[in-house]
Amino acid sequence: MKPDPGKLIAAAAKAREAAVAPYSKFKVGAALLARSGEIIGGANVESASYGLTCCAERVALFKALTSGINEFVAIAVVARIEKGPMPCGACRQLLAEYAPDATVFAADSDDLGKFREFTVKKLLPNAFLGGSW
Ligand code: THU
Repeated sequence: MKPDPGKLIAAAAKAREAAVAPYSKFKVGAALLARSGEIIGGANVESASYGLTCCAERVALFKALTSGINEFVAIAVVARIEKGPMPCGACRQLLAEYAPDATVFAADSDDLGKFREFTVKKLLPNAFLGGSW
């Protein structure tokens, strides 16, 4: 399954509409492409206890995993920031564990046609993937 970046980025932009970001006002949308072709969207959700905030990427990943979807080809992330948002360290860790072979597309919501492309492996080399327990 080869990702269609434009389609996945459009899905992330749509998912972004549901962002709950009353504190930062920085709305982020993510869309995960599963190996089956299914697309799972997510958006950031913030808390008055700021540290409890969950990024769009993790919301999408947790939605997918808890729906029984666990093979991923790509993820798109969209926010109103030049060149698009880069996944934070926490999200990179989760992606390294659950979407290790995924491509990452980042796009500015004001310019969806222009995107940057990475891989999860490039964004978090030598990831910690647990011990032998
Ligand atoms: N955020 C994401 O959802 N994804 C990213 O890739 C970067 C940051 C969110 C977390 C918080 O709600 C807001 O953006 C500001 O950091």
